[in-house]
Amino acid sequence: MGEATGKRHVVFEGVEMGLGTWSWGDRLFWGYGRGYRDDDIRQAYDASLQAGVFFMDTAEVYGQGRSETLLGKFLAETEQKVVVATKFMPYPWRLGRGSLKRALRNSLKRLGRASVDLYQIHWPFPPVQIEVWMDAMSEAVQAGLITAVGVSNYDRKQMQRAYDALIRQGVPLASNQVEYSLLDRRVEKNGLLKQCQEMGVTLIAYSPLAMGMLTGKYTPENPPQGFRARRYQARYLAAMKPLIDQLKRIGSDHAGKTAAQVALNWVICKGAVPIPGAKTLAQAQQNAAALGWRLSEEEVARLDEVSDRVQTALS
Ligand SMILES: NC(=O)c1ccc[n+]([C@@H]2O[C@H](COP(=O)([O-])OP(=O)(O)OC[C@H]3O[C@@H](n4cnc5c(N)ncnc54)[C@H](OP(=O)(O)O)[C@@H]3O)[C@@H](O)[C@H]2O)c1
Repeated sequence: MGEATGKRHVVFEGVEMGLGTWSWGDRLFWGYGRGYRDDDIRQAYDASLQAGVFFMDTAEVYGQGRSETLLGKFLAETEQKVVVATKFMPYPWRLGRGSLKRALRNSLKRLGRASVDLYQIHWPFPPVQIEVWMDAMSEAVQAGLITAVGVSNYDRKQMQRAYDALIRQGVPLASNQVEYSLLDRRVEKNGLLKQCQEMGVTLIAYSPLAMGMLTGKYTPENPPQGFRARRYQARYLAAMKPLIDQLKRIGSDHAGKTAAQVALNWVICKGAVPIPGAKTLAQAQQNAAALGWRLSEEEVARLDEVSDRVQTALS
């Protein structure tokens, strides 16, 4: 299974899983304010910390800054260690190193922190060269504004360029955050996961529950609403059923673990760090119980096989 050969960055010490905060304050995609509110989010945060999930992933764009602001408010009232990861969006009008520094200062202000533990480039968008952003990142490390540097949605070539540019300044690339779940295994097939492990770059798995699909609560009779409705249509939801059944079956062999917990444990077994999003206390509690136990190699292989079959049916 996914044992790392390179050494992980110290910022990931003790981190097996994180908490994703995209939905915090986001009305457009996730419907913040309709069905969940600030007190639900606060409970999700508290429950995660209590269960040993202390790695929080946010971004300046989530809820147009509201996710960082909420997290900052919670951090101010937290005694225990929290590892904070946020992201810089390379909008096409951000044309130089100065724009990264300005955005970082604004994120720090919202987070109420003097430095951020992990700062990530959100997407490898043009026109600015990867090397320019990495030079700006190195400067921010030297200035003590960030501890570790990450990228997100970078392919193998882009990640190698980022790695090379940083290492010239003596800074290691800590992570690459990409989509990875039992319903999206591109990083296994295209070699990115293996490359990360060889380089000691932690692969942070986003949408590890396939935006909620792997919890098993969405079916052709109960499809997701809003922006997820287009991606996960009835045909998709019907095709993934054998996978959901297998997740539930394996979960019941582990003292009643849920499909979501098994799906998250599978990501951990592959050597990646899943960051499931949670909007409520119940979701955060359930997801945190993906920790503290492990699937067997045989169970991981069985899930691989069923997920391959589902992917083939969908292609
Ligand atoms: N770097 C990037 O480009 C990028 C892109 C996407 C996400 N991310 C990061 O990755 C994090 C997670 O990804 P994601 O939010 O897209 O997808 P996800 O973690 O796969 O799914 C999260 C959603 O699933 C539902 N859910 C979660 N746990 C549940 C549970 N135990 N029981 C029932 N439903 C549950 C909730 O939505 P409902 O209750 O509405 O179903 C929740 O908002 C984000 O918060 C963000 O930090 C990064």
